[in-house]
Amino acid sequence: MKTYSKMVDNPVDKDAVYAQAVDILRSGGVVAFPTETVYGLGAIATDEKAVQRIFEAKGRPADNPLIVHIGRKEDVAQYVAEIPEVANTLMEAFWPGPLTLVMEKKPGVIAETVTAGMHTVAIRMPDHPVALQLLQKLELPLAAPSANRSGKPSPTEAAHVYHDLMGRVPLIIDGGATGIGVESTVLDITVTPPVILRPGGIVKEQLEELIGTVHLATKPNDVIETPRAPGMKYTHYAPDAPLFVIESDAAIIERALDTIHQQKKRAAIIGPDELYTEKADWYFSTGAMDNHEAMATNLYKAIRQCDATDADMILAIETDLSGIGAAVMNRLDKASDGKRFTE
Ligand code: TXA
Ligand code: MG
Repeated sequence: MKTYSKMVDNPVDKDAVYAQAVDILRSGGVVAFPTETVYGLGAIATDEKAVQRIFEAKGRPADNPLIVHIGRKEDVAQYVAEIPEVANTLMEAFWPGPLTLVMEKKPGVIAETVTAGMHTVAIRMPDHPVALQLLQKLELPLAAPSANRSGKPSPTEAAHVYHDLMGRVPLIIDGGATGIGVESTVLDITVTPPVILRPGGIVKEQLEELIGTVHLATKPNDVIETPRAPGMKYTHYAPDAPLFVIESDAAIIERALDTIHQQKKRAAIIGPDELYTEKADWYFSTGAMDNHEAMATNLYKAIRQCDATDADMILAIETDLSGIGAAVMNRLDKASDGKRFTE
């Protein structure tokens, strides 16, 4: 299969690209497209065979359910058993946006593989002009996980999708770099208080301000008897070289590099501008130290940049858990499989 990556940055090509995407999707194919978080790989969520193609292209285990993307808030009623009051409040405040709501599903509408046989469905309305145009032209819901090969960091640029899925998908709609850079927050509202199954673009503080107490499923890798977000049990975002989280302290980082070099090894560092050191064999900056948003935006790209080096290990400098820092540290926890570099 030949993979075409097409930009939608001018009005002439735009219509043709959307028309082609809609054709592919309606005939049961998959299309990669940008959202405000990361690129998604979409297939019509009510078409079992089409959804299968997502799992094939990604090499993703089929017991991991997918998020259903919709183009209009009203559409949610077609897919859920009932809309809880709290859902109305949250949709009003945060849709379109990086908040996925897990609700009781209406049986028999969404393909079974999308929900991995569970009685719930995860739904969001993305806040990206290309994703919204596509959904609105299609007039059908799209199941869409991140458009990476399973186990790779989520793509934040069309080139990342091309790298991972070239020859496996017919079309990538290139809408430039995504903004937020980490995936949506997955919030389970079938329980009280609601539980954040995956921290993401809408942060705990924002949710609590609006709806009161929200729990954070702690230690996502440590699953909990029945994994509520089945994705939590997989090691995601595993870079090629082992990744260690390291304290945000210049002296500790310098000493770590000395130790690593004594062992004749080389290290790539992912960290803020302020901690740049010439001792690092590679240093990929994610922006200013206190700018959590920039760190989220640049994290996956930095991990991919590390993969393109010959580093024996990656040191990722930690940040605090305020705001989107919680999502960043959650992803680093997964990428490191809980490993920390200690002296
Ligand atoms: O930002 C995003 O959410 C991106 C973009 C493309 O929209 N999508 C994304 O999808 O990250 P994916 O498939 O990589 O992650 C879906 C997450 C997984 O952790 C999965 O386990 C959880 O949502 N999930 C899906 N359906 C669920 C359900 N019914 N109950 C609980 N968790 C669910
Ligand atoms: Mg993913």
